[in-house]
Amino acid sequence: MMPRHQGNGYSNGYPRGKTFDISPHRFQPRSSVHGNRKHRKLIVRLGIVALLLFAFSFWVFSSHPILSVVSLGLVSSTTDLEFETVRYYDLSNVQGTARGWEREERILLCVPLRDAESHLPMFFSHLRNLTYPHHSIDLAFLVSDSKDRTLEVLTDNLERIQADPDPEQPYGEVSIIEKDFGQKVNQDVESRHGFAAQASRRKLMAQARNWLLSAALRPYHSWVYWRDVDVETAPFTILEDLMRHNKDVIVPNVWRPLPDWLGGEQPYDLNSWQESETALALADTLDEDAVIVEGYAEYATWRPHLAYLRDPYGDPDMEMEIDGVGGVSILAKAKVFRAGVHFPAFSFQKHAETEGFGKMAKQMQCSVVGLPNYVIWHLYEPSVDDIRHMEEMEQERVAREKEEQEKKLKEQKMKEEFGDASGQWEMDKQKIREKQEQQQQAGNGEKPAVGAA
Ligand SMILES: *[C@@H]1O[C@H](CO)[C@@H](O)[C@H](O)[C@H]1NC(C)=O
Repeated sequence: MMPRHQGNGYSNGYPRGKTFDISPHRFQPRSSVHGNRKHRKLIVRLGIVALLLFAFSFWVFSSHPILSVVSLGLVSSTTDLEFETVRYYDLSNVQGTARGWEREERILLCVPLRDAESHLPMFFSHLRNLTYPHHSIDLAFLVSDSKDRTLEVLTDNLERIQADPDPEQPYGEVSIIEKDFGQKVNQDVESRHGFAAQASRRKLMAQARNWLLSAALRPYHSWVYWRDVDVETAPFTILEDLMRHNKDVIVPNVWRPLPDWLGGEQPYDLNSWQESETALALADTLDEDAVIVEGYAEYATWRPHLAYLRDPYGDPDMEMEIDGVGGVSILAKAKVFRAGVHFPAFSFQKHAETEGFGKMAKQMQCSVVGLPNYVIWHLYEPSVDDIRHMEEMEQERVAREKEEQEKKLKEQKMKEEFGDASGQWEMDKQKIREKQEQQQQAGNGEKPAVGAA
């Protein structure tokens, strides 16, 4: 059989010129003499090309002999890489210190979002007010299982703050991560806080946090700050305030305001606590997979809660060692996560999510601290009971108002009627008096009846 392609011939009637032609016929079995010859030819050709290239580069760089060697990538030091695709990081520089804002330490601010559209304007108002240098903060949002316009409203707000003419406003890098976890629990207060839903809900939340962090944490971050969107009031200096304590993990106390008829205020986050003997004994009696959730009558743990140890006039810098942490506002050194501490989506020492995170950090010899007298305020969301109570109060108010209105109307009517009546009465009185006088006069004149009788 004649091979159809000869070295420099014409394969299909067109001159081959400089085009490089690949066709199946080129790859002949190695045993074929023709194939070996072609192979040798190819090597020779490649050799010539390489020689030409080398001669060319030698000619170009002959006046800069060192540069020519470096440019060929033959010599290069690790600390002075020339390639754009190679990055060098010294992680000993991103350990996190007490005065990070002076050293331009970068914070990754992580915000999990789910049906959070209504809270976003308030959240961005907080972002605008943060005093930690914004350019040293990277934002990472996780949007999951949302049925409202969370993503659109988030994007709008981000575009606005990143394009702000005030150079102090725009943040560093912003990541939006979208991922559903199939949270089936309804987002209303009763479902979210009901006891039965807690364990599975907390495990999904843990996964969400881990996905968000693993996608957003970069080698240049020194700190990670977790913040919920539904915080209503917090000091603008919260990042510096927490950072000054120089702890591996630190949380403020979280309370919430209440309507006056409910007492004005209340501890909110019961997930920050110190371990107790009772709880440890309880944990020993539970299944391996069980998850203790704090703040429910079902598990009486008798743990000292950060929330209840608040003294409104106490030193806001007072520290308390804790084991479980709540997730509303956590500042942690990035090295904690780098070392492998995470939010367990399984039962870790009978805990999951942020409480498990606290326990795991403790287990890894990290410092985990809460500030009982440094308080931030969670938004007050009325429970179904509260809403019913408020509706009853509203109905009562409306009923009372209606009653008063009716009473007023009646009084007015009575007054009018009484006014008429009194006029009539005066006239009647007058008539009676006149009659009496007439009768008296008549009687004085005659008196016949009595006398005659
Ligand atoms: C941010 O600061 C402004 C001006 O001081 C204030 O009106 C606003 O309420 C603050 N936002 C929050 C969420 O605290």
